[in-house]
Amino acid sequence: MIGICSNIGVAEAKSSMKRESFGKTEDGRAVDIYTLTNQTGMEVRITNFGGIVVSLKAPDRNGKFDDVVLGYNSIDGYLTNKAYFGALIGRYGNRIAHGQFKLDGKTYNLPKNDGDNTLHGGKVGFNKQLWTAKDVSGSRGQALELTYTSKDGEEGFPGTLTAKVVYTLTDQNELHIDYSATTDKDTIVNLTNHSYFNLAGQGNGDILGHQLMINADRFTPVDQTLIPAGELKAVKDTPLDFTKATAIGARINNDDQQLKFGKGYDHNWVLNGGIASAPRLAAEAYDSTSGRVLRVLTTEPGVQFYSGNFLDGTITGKGGKVYNLRNGFCLETQHFPDSPNHSNFPSTELKPGQMYHTTTIFKFSSR
Ligand code: BGC
Repeated sequence: MIGICSNIGVAEAKSSMKRESFGKTEDGRAVDIYTLTNQTGMEVRITNFGGIVVSLKAPDRNGKFDDVVLGYNSIDGYLTNKAYFGALIGRYGNRIAHGQFKLDGKTYNLPKNDGDNTLHGGKVGFNKQLWTAKDVSGSRGQALELTYTSKDGEEGFPGTLTAKVVYTLTDQNELHIDYSATTDKDTIVNLTNHSYFNLAGQGNGDILGHQLMINADRFTPVDQTLIPAGELKAVKDTPLDFTKATAIGARINNDDQQLKFGKGYDHNWVLNGGIASAPRLAAEAYDSTSGRVLRVLTTEPGVQFYSGNFLDGTITGKGGKVYNLRNGFCLETQHFPDSPNHSNFPSTELKPGQMYHTTTIFKFSSR
């Protein structure tokens, strides 16, 4: 049940979240926005259009709350959003080379929306779909369940895929994202969230001074179209070594082929430990001006660290803030890009009777 500040009546449950109108889709369907709050005052607003995290207010070291994710003021921006601000990404996060893959001996062709490749699920990915929302708040915190059924053949993918994503805000200032999915035919799936963070507050300049640690000794080098070559390469002695916390901007302009291909950082890091049975630390970002710390924990084997290289000042976001180059960064937990075309990468196949399940946690603190 979703209501305005009413209790959902379960003994251990938290009070229910607030629901408001967020406008309409292009074809006139009503879109809502849900406000999740916790006992420390943290607040996350999520719309059922694209499952988008619209705002996320986290405390700095003095307890001052700021919105630390990039986005738009209203639904209009999200309807045409090409940057994927805050969105749920599916059916397949990141790129599939030449929009093509083989499964059970059959070749599937996907719409190409990134040069010759398919990016983030195709022309109309899960980020542009209206999800069905349900308040599933419980003892862990206020929680929003979003479900979306993707038809067999949608954007070229085989099988009816029923995807469920639960966002839970805990009193430990964590946003848990639990992804699950089932299918009625063999298919591929790779779901993620595409929030752009700026721990100094959205619209407050670039993120080059943020310190970043990524718990990965290897990454998947790419070609100039950002498709992995297939190798898992050591980060040691490269500007992609974030095994020790380093400023994002410290080496971003180094004369390095991978950085040139990515126009900065736009790569998949191979997390130490592979697929984990419980979320473990994948990355930690720290902004010394505000003191905010973001820890990303995940069960996934990879994370795409994207340093906002395509932000170019042409987007005006929330509060009239203009997003310039590298004004936000993403840590997209995932299976590796183009996995269906690399048999040495962890498989992204899902078969009938199997349950896809991954968990990612964005945990906020300060120091
Ligand atoms: C990709 C980038 C892309 C960005 C926004 C990231 O996941 O790796 O290349 O520009 O998403 O679309």
